[in-house]
Amino acid sequence: MSVKNYRIARIPGDGIGPEVVREASKVVEAAGERHCFRVAWEDYPFGAEHWLRTGETLPDSALDEIGGADALLLGAVGDPRVKPGVLERGILLRVRFHFDQYANLRPARSYPNVPLPVRLPSGGKLDTLVVRENTEDFYIGIGGKTQGGSLSLDLAARRGLYSVVGGLEGGFTGGVEGVFQLGVATEPGIRRVTARAARAAKERGESRIALATKSNVMPQIYGFWEEVATDEAARHGVSVTAVNADAMCYHLARTPDLYGVILAPNMFGDIVSDLLAGLAGGLGTAAGADIGDGLSMFEPVHGSAPDIAGTGRANPIAAILTAAMMLDHLGEREAAKQVDEALATYLSQSGPKQFPFEFGGEARTAAVGDRIAEGV
Ligand code: NAI
Ligand code: MG
Repeated sequence: MSVKNYRIARIPGDGIGPEVVREASKVVEAAGERHCFRVAWEDYPFGAEHWLRTGETLPDSALDEIGGADALLLGAVGDPRVKPGVLERGILLRVRFHFDQYANLRPARSYPNVPLPVRLPSGGKLDTLVVRENTEDFYIGIGGKTQGGSLSLDLAARRGLYSVVGGLEGGFTGGVEGVFQLGVATEPGIRRVTARAARAAKERGESRIALATKSNVMPQIYGFWEEVATDEAARHGVSVTAVNADAMCYHLARTPDLYGVILAPNMFGDIVSDLLAGLAGGLGTAAGADIGDGLSMFEPVHGSAPDIAGTGRANPIAAILTAAMMLDHLGEREAAKQVDEALATYLSQSGPKQFPFEFGGEARTAAVGDRIAEGV
């Protein structure tokens, strides 16, 4: 069998980012040995240290280079010494928008011996996938604050599918100061992420997806979402149940395994997927992928956790599951499945000494990675 080669760009980032990326890479390499592929890692130093030293977040030249890789693996960015938003917007959102990564996949699954905060009424397993639109909605980045009550908004945003152009004039009477934040949804933007969610449902053997919406109070944007998503899903033989996002949170808290695939506009998807991550046992198992037609990025849901960085207490499981999603995306399905199985075996056979700190055990970051890599 011929050996496949993959070029994987890596941004380990800040805090526990490098610690968990190291373990995820270990597991990927073990999977490569078993499944006949090799990985050439291309490391980038972007993050807080680099920004503090150079004032640079993510230069265009690096974006071009990263674009030539087969995938991008990111740890986390964010540091108490840097104003919130600088690195998140300058690196994370920049990559998502530049490569038009329109679908953010966030699985929420329960694992053996990982305690859940809420008992599943069915007594079964939690296995839900959130497919979050990742480029539009209130995260498009158009907004501003009034000056003397008035505002001239520049409608400037560039996406793979279109550019937003023009301007908006307005404000408040009587010199009242305030802000405007614009939410945007487009037909092709909704269609492509709905198609991805429909495909995911069919792969799971399901014919229905739940859509997080709020058309009762924002009929313009979310009414449009319901209309277009329902039509697009039907083209793939899948039906859409629209559920108001607030009610969805209520139902999830009571019945975490109520839904299979949840399709959501950007902001509701952000919120609902964090709720599900909590219901599935915590950030420690929450994996994520930002999928586009070009380069895709793989990043655990958690941040840089500066409170535990350098202590060996970081749980690398979310990053390892994220790497498994990357393998699946690269077409290494068997390898991805094997990482999943090795993880489940490790969790079901481990006593407290071998369990990650986050789940009440005593195993350090590298020890958890070693066990799972050995299992593979
Ligand atoms: P966080 O996810 O870093 O941490 C929240 C809590 O969960 C902390 O108590 C932390 O110790 C714990 N935690 C997180 N991941 C863990 C792991 N793998 N193992 C064990 N415990 C874990 O969120 P927080 O504290 O709000 O943000 C810290 C920094 O990370 C901020 O600068 C934030 O902007 C950034 N951030 C970056 C993200 C990214 O790069 N994708 C996502 C979320 C936050
Ligand atoms: Mg979030």
